[in-house]
Amino acid sequence: MSALNINFIRDQFPALSSADGKATPIFMDNPGGTQVPQMVIDAMVDCLIHANANLGGVFATSGRADAIVADAHVAMADFVNAPSPREIIIGQNMTTLTFHISRSIGRMFSKGDEIILTRMEHDANVSPWLLLARDLGLEVKFLPFDRETYEFDMAELDKLLSPRTRLVAFSHASNMTGTINDVKAVVERAHGVGALVYVDSVQYAPHGVIDVQDLGCDFLVCSPYKFFGPHMGVLWGREDLLMELDPYKVRPAADSLPDRFETGTLNHEGMAGITATVDYFAAIGGDQADDIYRSRYAHFDGRRQNLCAALDYLTDYEIPLTRSLIEGLAGLPGVKIHGITNPNAMNLRVPTVSFTAEGYHPRTISNALAEQGIQVWDGHNYAVEPVNHLGLMEAGGIVRIGLAHYNTMEEVDKTVAAVAAHLGA
Ligand SMILES: Cc1ncc(COP(=O)(O)O)c(C=O)c1O
Repeated sequence: MSALNINFIRDQFPALSSADGKATPIFMDNPGGTQVPQMVIDAMVDCLIHANANLGGVFATSGRADAIVADAHVAMADFVNAPSPREIIIGQNMTTLTFHISRSIGRMFSKGDEIILTRMEHDANVSPWLLLARDLGLEVKFLPFDRETYEFDMAELDKLLSPRTRLVAFSHASNMTGTINDVKAVVERAHGVGALVYVDSVQYAPHGVIDVQDLGCDFLVCSPYKFFGPHMGVLWGREDLLMELDPYKVRPAADSLPDRFETGTLNHEGMAGITATVDYFAAIGGDQADDIYRSRYAHFDGRRQNLCAALDYLTDYEIPLTRSLIEGLAGLPGVKIHGITNPNAMNLRVPTVSFTAEGYHPRTISNALAEQGIQVWDGHNYAVEPVNHLGLMEAGGIVRIGLAHYNTMEEVDKTVAAVAAHLGA
């Protein structure tokens, strides 16, 4: 199989090359948000020039804006394999969408009903539900994860599920440990007791194929700015459920989908960017990836087939980088990686690598790296539950290095060397 043409990939991203030849940052802050290819920027600019009007007008720019909005829903339906673009709700970000839809979901629950959250979540998949539970008198249970394997134990989930469980909300991939969770296993159990399943795919989306029909969940959320698109959020929900829910909307807004959950004037330029983001993946899958990747997705065609091929192709590029990053960091004195490290189990994690170094506050490490132009996150990164579960909050959380497919092995080596130098290794 041919190797990824990394120079071609990097050329797509203006942030990765400076006009004056000066060094650009090493972007290892990707779990917090990714850089954007030129075609996404162009689509957004073009929208602001040629389609800058509100929707539903009889004039040309409004017609173009209508088309941009419709196209973005079709693009995201392709991205998650939704049966219909009506099931795609586009909004400000995952957090806001989750707060919004949780109000409507809660209208189906009553006092004493139970919901299950997990200790692996970003707080955007915790606080909306905790506040709902407070408002409605729901009981909240937390599914822990194993502190050594960094995985859920389905037997623990079985213990928490009951005939009163109405919802299980959990992450597809953790923004702290990087673990990819077995969504289907959770769905099977939750549906077994009649509970709804709400999946947070924000960290998974840049690194793997999402297929909501195959996963069988009821809702799934992701954020295009984590997968090379604009700062927005996308929610997919089953059409029958979205129609059954009572929407919080203004009276003149249409009661049909997706309008009933897309409140107010939308971010049209962002939507133009979303379509271009999906097309970016599809172009890689169509033009760069070998046939073998497309043939894995022979049951799809067109853009869906190509974008799935791209995600697998890019993952195959990312895995050796992740392995090298983990091996390099784990070999440093006092360093502990809080996530799966087995080099043969990289398919069970995304390339988001969190670690601590004995005797060093995480902030001192991220500062030292920043001085060399290497951008990484430290602290809890809103992963309050996992950082607490691992007892790391008091000591400042973790350092988080997260790769994307535009990173290189050279960048990984430089990053490990910079951490080593700071630790005096
Ligand atoms: C796993 C996970 N869920 C949810 C969010 C929140 O996403 P948004 O910024 O779109 O609200 C993040 C953001 O970092 C995340 O990593």
